[in-house]
Amino acid sequence: MFLYVVLLFAGLVFAAWTNFTATCTDVVLHESLTGHLSQLTASCLTFANTTSTRNTTLDLNLCLGIDYTSANLTWSIYGKFSEYCASCHVVGRTRLGCSCATLNGIHANSTIDLNTGISNTNGTLTCQGGMAMES
Ligand SMILES: *[C@@H]1O[C@H](CO)[C@@H](O)[C@H](O)[C@H]1NC(C)=O
Ligand SMILES: *[C@@H]1O[C@H](CO)[C@@H](O)[C@H](O)[C@H]1NC(C)=O
Ligand SMILES: *[C@@H]1O[C@H](CO)[C@@H](O)[C@H](O)[C@H]1NC(C)=O
Ligand SMILES: *[C@@H]1O[C@H](CO)[C@@H](O)[C@H](O)[C@H]1NC(C)=O
Ligand SMILES: *[C@@H]1O[C@H](CO)[C@@H](O)[C@H](O)[C@H]1NC(C)=O
Ligand SMILES: *[C@@H]1O[C@H](CO)[C@@H](O)[C@H](O)[C@H]1NC(C)=O
Repeated sequence: MFLYVVLLFAGLVFAAWTNFTATCTDVVLHESLTGHLSQLTASCLTFANTTSTRNTTLDLNLCLGIDYTSANLTWSIYGKFSEYCASCHVVGRTRLGCSCATLNGIHANSTIDLNTGISNTNGTLTCQGGMAMES
């Protein structure tokens, strides 16, 4: 049921999944309750109004996973990267770097530019896999 809802949402929203940092400020990655650096918070402009912003928090597990052949970080609907990755950290302004491993033991350190998979949809952070909660 949950997957069905997620896929339906991905089909409805056809915006380009890019460049949220052009319209969002105060971009910060937070730890989840389980201690993984997976909660992306930002203050984002809404469509209609260049002064109105919303604070939202997106759980990157909804859209970030690993490539099962290389263990590299990759965009993946409900990819649950936190289950495969450790030592995550922010690289530069918009990149996330992690040390990840597949279940059959392939290890890799990789980074991914969050701007290539996350967009600002009317003040809410969205990705192909989910959207942010109001925060
Ligand atoms: C992202 O937005 C910035 C600022 O508006 C712009 O300079 C840059 O070219 C954009 N990048 C992409 C990939 O659209
Ligand atoms: C834009 O947002 C500001 C702050 O929320 C509000 O005061 C203003 O009325 C809004 N303007 C329009 C045209 O919606
Ligand atoms: C967003 O959060 C910042 C600080 O955390 C706060 O100052 C600001 O008022 C919040 N903005 C909205 C629209 O809630
Ligand atoms: C990842 O980086 C850490 C720290 O630099 C290093 O110890 C480890 O060997 C690297 N792992 C791989 C698979 O390259
Ligand atoms: C995995 O990442 C490394 C370094 O970031 C890169 O050299 C390699 O081509 C990537 N492999 C795949 C399959 O994407
Ligand atoms: C964007 O959000 C505002 C404020 O919640 C809402 O009034 C407006 O209808 C939304 N616009 C679109 C195109 O969804």
